Amino acid sequence: MKETKRLILLSIILILSMALSPEKEKNYSLDDRVKKLLSQMTLEEKVGQMTQVTIQAVSKTQGTKDQKHELDLNKLEEAITKYHVGSILNVYDVAHSIDYWHEVITEIQDIATKKTRLKIPIIYGIDAIHGANYTLDATLFPQAINMAATMNRDLIEKAGEITAIETRASGIPWNFYPVMDLGRQPLWPRLWETFGEDVYLASEMGKHYILGAQGDDIGDEKKLATCLKHYAGYSFPINGRDRTPAWISERMMREYFLPPFQAGIEAGAPTVMVNSSEVDGIPTHSDYHLLTEVLRGEMKFKGFVVSDWEDINRLYSRDKVAASPKEAVKMAVMAGVDMSMVPYDFSFYELLLELVKNGEVPLSRIDEAVGRILTVKFRLGLFENPYPNKKLKGMFASPEFTKANYDAACESITLVKNENNTLPLSKKIKVLVTGPTADRLSVMNSGWTITWQGNEETLYPKDKKTVLKAIQEKIGKENVIYVPGSDFDKTLNIDEAVRKTSDVDALIVCLGEKAYCETPGNIDDLTLDEAQLKLASEFIKTKKSVILVMLQGRPRVINKVEPGVGAVLIGFLPGMEGGRAIADILFGDVNPSGKLPVTYPRAPNAILHYDYKPLEFFDVNSFNPQWSFGYGLSYTTFSYSDLKLDKKEINKDEKINVTVTVKNTGSKAGKEAVQLYLTDLFGSVSRPVKQLKGFEKIHLKPGESMEVKFTIEPKHLSFIGRDNKRIIEPGEFKVIIADLTENFFVK
Ligand code: BGC
Repeated sequence: MKETKRLILLSIILILSMALSPEKEKNYSLDDRVKKLLSQMTLEEKVGQMTQVTIQAVSKTQGTKDQKHELDLNKLEEAITKYHVGSILNVYDVAHSIDYWHEVITEIQDIATKKTRLKIPIIYGIDAIHGANYTLDATLFPQAINMAATMNRDLIEKAGEITAIETRASGIPWNFYPVMDLGRQPLWPRLWETFGEDVYLASEMGKHYILGAQGDDIGDEKKLATCLKHYAGYSFPINGRDRTPAWISERMMREYFLPPFQAGIEAGAPTVMVNSSEVDGIPTHSDYHLLTEVLRGEMKFKGFVVSDWEDINRLYSRDKVAASPKEAVKMAVMAGVDMSMVPYDFSFYELLLELVKNGEVPLSRIDEAVGRILTVKFRLGLFENPYPNKKLKGMFASPEFTKANYDAACESITLVKNENNTLPLSKKIKVLVTGPTADRLSVMNSGWTITWQGNEETLYPKDKKTVLKAIQEKIGKENVIYVPGSDFDKTLNIDEAVRKTSDVDALIVCLGEKAYCETPGNIDDLTLDEAQLKLASEFIKTKKSVILVMLQGRPRVINKVEPGVGAVLIGFLPGMEGGRAIADILFGDVNPSGKLPVTYPRAPNAILHYDYKPLEFFDVNSFNPQWSFGYGLSYTTFSYSDLKLDKKEINKDEKINVTVTVKNTGSKAGKEAVQLYLTDLFGSVSRPVKQLKGFEKIHLKPGESMEVKFTIEPKHLSFIGRDNKRIIEPGEFKVIIADLTENFFVK
């Protein structure tokens, strides 16, 4: 008897010590830790874990440029202890110093780990989409559209790595990024958040971002958890406006929009955010087929799914597919959403609690969702240490990070026109700089920069250079005349600007878009604003050399002025080092090597993609964009030769090795993105004229050549067949690299 009592006592001590000692707990398998914790949780605690609120909901003051942010500790405590919230996100109109972030995160985790029964840490998430944007002075990289233009996997991996360090340095372990939506609708105001129009390029860039940000252990103090968004089909609204319906057939969904997400899942992203809109009339937050059957069943995603902003309630309030807020919660949770970005109140918590108590949502579904959330928290190491790692502050915004940012900016800018070698310019000339994007940093960064909209110019760092400042620094202020000429949509002093052209040798006209993010960036016409076109036209009339620099989130149509200018640089959104990079390219200190990640339309309604179908180039139809995807010039020339395949005939499961020799035949060192395209000559479903299936960025000195290798794998030959399943069909394929081609057969 005594022995039994002793054994019981020992077991209790053992269980207690396990519960109290995270160090010991570490030795248990992840699954066991999750199961054990779940078994101790009340229903309320579980539903709380599935609830995410914005920091605004637990703040006294929101924080703006004129008002300091302040947490409301009572509300925060109520959120965590009464409603058991598992996650907090964001700030909105302000960026904090690292030290302030440390205070905020510490307050939050103190409550979570000292004032709750089970001490479950909060997972804080943020949109650090091109760097730790809500932390002051962070390294802010070129936006995704630019990173895609680099066609350089090392650069995107580095961006992921640095962003992870700087975000973790603020104490934040979860980044709502990368955007794996495909940028095939140029009007869409979030185009620049994507890696462009091509499935393969977007998949590769996203994958390498994740590898950089997560390494092989998201629990590492310098790594974080990524989030693939916005699953799926969000980026293809038929009218081009943000959060409006997409109509995407199942074949199209599987051919274009799902593969980048699949690549992200395979790269190890542990969270997915849902498409805020609807596809084929079904709001994605209510779509069991996409969120569960496809994402879990077919794509084998094991992490947790978070809703987008307020979108569960919007199933009722906006989409009207649910007849009450409660039905909306039931629909979303049963469709497969594990965490609700509510974000302002605790309605989700209360309604879900009721639904479980009434038996409308089974407890098993709650356990499944909470298990997934806890797994990510355990993997992040939050149970061992939920607090900011103060040591990382020393690495923040280091010169090495700034250099990586500058390198990325340089490779992300695309030279698309250079008549009679207009560029590079001599440093011994006088120039006139004009246009609304010449002297602003916001136009090179756009949304998710310091604030959500990124348009608060006064908050931008003072030590970063606009295009104008960088040009002044390069050739001397006395050699640069600056006249704004025009704002974005209103002409200013064009006459004065034109008068001043008589004293200069070249005119650098910086046009484009103001900063924006999400719905506020909606437009109805891709054509660049009239005022800016007028500015360029007036300069063209002077017959001086005109160079256009386009800083913009999407390809604004410039066909009226393009013929009259000597050179065009498509800068898109090159980030905080963009000004320096552009000046260095204009004056030849850097040789441009960007390639367009989207097809640049010639006319607002002529929205084309490089991987068009044969009938788009048939009869009177033609493919005649301003510039195609993959296009980009250099100050040197490259010749391609010796395209070789190691086999001319393969079985469906075999690979082919491809080699090609690239030579720098010009007089300047340069980088080249060597691109391999594949054409499936005949197929049971009409096949694109070509598709990118490989790219390598190489550097060559003048006269130097290099053999570049690619491997064509079975997956590169596959497509979605008539029955909506992925297949490989026998037949002839063509490999295209630059102007070389070689064919092979699949048996
Ligand atoms: C956006 C998401 C973002 C979320 C949180 C939403 O409005 O669609 O991309 O992650 O807000 O900031």
